[in-house]
Amino acid sequence: MRVWHWLLTGMLGCSAVWADEDVAKGEALVKAKCVACHSHDRLLKLVVRTPEADRAARLETFLPNHNAPSADDRKAIIAYLFDVVRPK
Ligand code: HEC
Repeated sequence: MRVWHWLLTGMLGCSAVWADEDVAKGEALVKAKCVACHSHDRLLKLVVRTPEADRAARLETFLPNHNAPSADDRKAIIAYLFDVVRPK
């Protein structure tokens, strides 16, 4: 999974590999801010609807105007969403 991580962080334009804290923070944020409107399941379906190659970019453009205006929060939310949908 390392290669996948590097590829993705490269696409997002940041140098650090996502830390577990980001994933944990993202999970808390998603539960607090996102699942009131679309359930957790629905949210994951919305995420995987975008082809994998375009997913990170789409979330980066979409979320600033969609309940995640803070760049830090967004990074954590995206880290969490990718962690959850990633084939294990
Ligand atoms: C006020 C209600 C509301 C809140 C809060 C909300 N959303 Fe949404 N979101 C929607 C609606 C409505 C849609 C339209 C898609 C659907 O459910 O059919 C949508 C669509 C999306 C999509 C699909 C975008 C696409 O590719 O077209 C994503 C991803 C998403 N939301 C993520 C989030 C995240 C992450 C949060 C929390 C930071 C969040 N949403 C909070 C209502 C909300």
